[in-house]
Amino acid sequence: MKRIPVILDGDPGHDDAIAWVLANSRPELNILAVSTAAGNQTLAKTTYNAGRIMALIGLDVPLAAGRRKPLFGELIVAPSVHGVSGLDGPALPEPVRPLEDEDAVSFVSRVLEESPEPVALVSTGPLTNTAALLLLRPDLKNKIGHIYMMGGGITKGNWTPAAEFNILVDPEAADIVFRSGLPITMAGLDVTENALVYPEDIERIRCVGNEVSRVVAEWLTFFYGFHQRIGYAGAPVHDAVAVAALVRPDLFTFEAMHVEVELCGDYARGATVGDRLHILKQPPNVSCIMGLYRERFVDLLVEAVAFYGKEPRA
Ligand code: RIB
Ligand code: CA
Repeated sequence: MKRIPVILDGDPGHDDAIAWVLANSRPELNILAVSTAAGNQTLAKTTYNAGRIMALIGLDVPLAAGRRKPLFGELIVAPSVHGVSGLDGPALPEPVRPLEDEDAVSFVSRVLEESPEPVALVSTGPLTNTAALLLLRPDLKNKIGHIYMMGGGITKGNWTPAAEFNILVDPEAADIVFRSGLPITMAGLDVTENALVYPEDIERIRCVGNEVSRVVAEWLTFFYGFHQRIGYAGAPVHDAVAVAALVRPDLFTFEAMHVEVELCGDYARGATVGDRLHILKQPPNVSCIMGLYRERFVDLLVEAVAFYGKEPRA
């Protein structure tokens, strides 16, 4: 099987963690490195969480910490959703592999340079690191094969009425990425709000009966707790959609769209404005995921945790 080289960049974060559990279980992916962004929590916390997730799932690849704050403006964090640690809930192992000395932008630049083929970037947090990479090393654009990102929303926001969290944390970064000309698959709220894992699905995952499935069930239970309090019937596992779209595009529907990122406005900053009626006469710059087969998405998550064996891991 030809494996796809990928770099995971995220701000774990419960749904980032589940996205990485999925990515690590897939034989078609060759994870070259992991980098962390500030978003759900501070960079120090998301990086510590990344190390713990990687220890849990046995992902022994380089981990590099990205930028501490957005390209402009101050950092927004989300303790109300992911807790003070950024990954509240079940106990996790301590990181095993030491953090790379280099910052993520320098380290990922080197990984891209050394890769014999273009690499897919899978971003599940603010796009700060990806934008910084494009600014620092535009010569490496030809080594980025595709960007799969969770962020934005054509029909809705979640942190403000207009803006989704990842984009709102660093709208300028998102604007740089969306203008890059690189192939982008956007998993926005239009699809991720329907990527719901219901309580009965959580039990299916827990019953797989290994350490990873138990932890994922606990992460989902915590994540669902916040969403249940605001009226959701299940946990929207936003970030796992970005990975699932890479490995199982048949589970989704896509719409080629020209999307602009709003950088100004008291109410609209961070909005991803999709030109679905082609009013701007601009070519599409993203493939926007608009629909999914929810039950089959959940099946994918059950299959992913089953990858980690039937016996509790030592
Ligand atoms: O809006 C959802 C996104 O913001 C997800 O990536 C979640 O992890 C948070 O980063
Ligand atoms: Ca995230």
